[in-house]
Amino acid sequence: MKRYLDELIENIKRLKIKRKAIILAHNYQLPEVQDIADYVGDSLGLSLTAGSTDAKVILFCGVRFMAETASILCSDKIVLLPDINAVCPMADMITADRLRELKKNNPEASVLSYINSSAEVKAESDVCCTSGNAVMLAHSLKDSRRIIFISDKYLANYVALKTNCNFITWDGYCPTHVKILAEDILIKRKSHPRAEVWVHPECRPEVISLADRVLSTGGMCKYAKETDSQEIIVGTEIGILHRLQKENPEKKFYPASEIAICPNMKLTTLDKILWALEDMRYKIDVPETVKFKAKRSVKRMLQLI
Ligand code: 13P
Ligand code: SF4
Repeated sequence: MKRYLDELIENIKRLKIKRKAIILAHNYQLPEVQDIADYVGDSLGLSLTAGSTDAKVILFCGVRFMAETASILCSDKIVLLPDINAVCPMADMITADRLRELKKNNPEASVLSYINSSAEVKAESDVCCTSGNAVMLAHSLKDSRRIIFISDKYLANYVALKTNCNFITWDGYCPTHVKILAEDILIKRKSHPRAEVWVHPECRPEVISLADRVLSTGGMCKYAKETDSQEIIVGTEIGILHRLQKENPEKKFYPASEIAICPNMKLTTLDKILWALEDMRYKIDVPETVKFKAKRSVKRMLQLI
């Protein structure tokens, strides 16, 4: 088994050089996938890295909207998603048609869309945001017009609290983060009384109100290195614990809920990464007309931060 794994990793590394590829992985990916990646990060870090790489091929270990964002930002590159079924259910909770309807009913409003959305929805938006910069972007837009914030209602609720914005929202949510319950936090606090509680802004409001800090996954990785706290209860998808523990071996990290697992994030395996590089699949292509409009809203986010 060990020999198979070593050979698999060697073959991936060899093919990666041959294809002039870079491997990007989200913080929720399987440990062995994170360990082979050239860059591991949150949605913002991944977009920035995709936008600045000089690699010819971007192999995206994440979900479809992330690979689409890379394709939107880098027209000249081939973007590969090792498993075509790796999608984000939240991103699919709103379609471009439904958003157009919402815009028609609120013609005065600008659209701030969570990056967890399809390329078609991004093309209908004024600006995108990630969990790490949503508060800042809402602040920058709030004096102009009313804002339609799509599609995560819990992120919208958190940003509204922080900015005093009165958003027009959509009933979208992350099926993984809603599995983290307030009672989980209370139980974990009892078992680890010295631990701080950090949660992701996609969590339910009652979970957020019990937290010491609300952070994107990138924010958690950054703050884990800076904080004096030695124990942290982590309220997000459990894949991040691998990176947190690896980068901070002296600290202890506990999952707020053991069932907060995103099945789509776990579809990417080392075998599929090798096959993706061998067969150059699955290519993620966004139609040019959609790409042109979607690029404006993603670029606007990058200019405003
Ligand atoms: P971030 O890594 O940007 O915080 O997003 C979390 C998430 O759920 C991505 O799908
Ligand atoms: Fe989508 Fe939630 Fe999975 Fe992230 S964790 S990809 S928001 S379903």
